[in-house]
Amino acid sequence: MAELLSLTLAAVTPAAEGISLFEFRAGPGQGPLPPFEPGAHLSLMLPSGIERQYSLCNNPDEHGRYVVAVKREAEGRGGSREMHGLVPGQVLRSRPPANHFPLAPAPAPVLLIAGGIGVTPIVAMAHRLARDRRPFRLVFLARSRKEAAFLDTLRDLAGAGLVLHFDDEAAGFYDLAGLLSGADPAAHIHCCGPAPLMEAVRRAAASWPENQLHFEFFANAAEAHAEGDQPFTLILARSRREVAVGAAETPLEALLRQGVDVDYSCTEGTCGTCITRVIEGEVDHRDAVLMPGEKASNIVLCCSRAKGERLTVDL
Ligand code: FES
Repeated sequence: MAELLSLTLAAVTPAAEGISLFEFRAGPGQGPLPPFEPGAHLSLMLPSGIERQYSLCNNPDEHGRYVVAVKREAEGRGGSREMHGLVPGQVLRSRPPANHFPLAPAPAPVLLIAGGIGVTPIVAMAHRLARDRRPFRLVFLARSRKEAAFLDTLRDLAGAGLVLHFDDEAAGFYDLAGLLSGADPAAHIHCCGPAPLMEAVRRAAASWPENQLHFEFFANAAEAHAEGDQPFTLILARSRREVAVGAAETPLEALLRQGVDVDYSCTEGTCGTCITRVIEGEVDHRDAVLMPGEKASNIVLCCSRAKGERLTVDL
């Protein structure tokens, strides 16, 4: 595992209703902060011990600081509430920036689609595209203007390429099909937002080549446990072991309970650390990281399950 960074929370500033920006700088004993590319995220270890990923939203060309934006989720899991309870001066540990959502390299045309707080990695991408003078379109959908962060920055960066849609001002849903039918067919689509938006973009872009579609979930919409979940057996092909997975636990929990060494990080199906190759059996996918083409042969152990009674994996 890469060495953890020591980060001091330097400032917390409001960015929109319910959304704050958290600026981190090098903490005690920390050397220069590693650089990051657009689309990268930090994995912060919060004081309670939970680990949460947040996309970096500042200009990737800035050195010496990391900025993340976090929405206070009233009903959310502990991460957002805990972040909003932090005060400047607190020191956190973090994994170095990692990137599962890289920006398509030049000269590919780019279409950015952001929903709500999912705008965070999109802002970093807009910084890079503007710096490189690459033309791009940026569609930002939010519930209302007051809940939309970074509006001024996005106007500066995207100029006439910025399209805003606010649910409370618009007459209906945003016309994604119309957007895509008018888009450059060579464009790479980068989308980050809530699950319904991602699904809508996927549907609207059904005819788009898969390698031109890039998605990032800012929170896992899937639930690791659902009513009616059945126990099943995980067959570990390499170590020739069988692990029983109970109805109320995830495969990852069952493996750890049995002392099987598995890499994991977020435990909520968003980081991709626990992706494991499936050798036999069908998976009930509940994660937010696998691309459609990866689903046939992989499982995200921290949240997905077997569809049948047995699943053989490469462990
Ligand atoms: S641990 Fe992050 S996806 Fe499973």
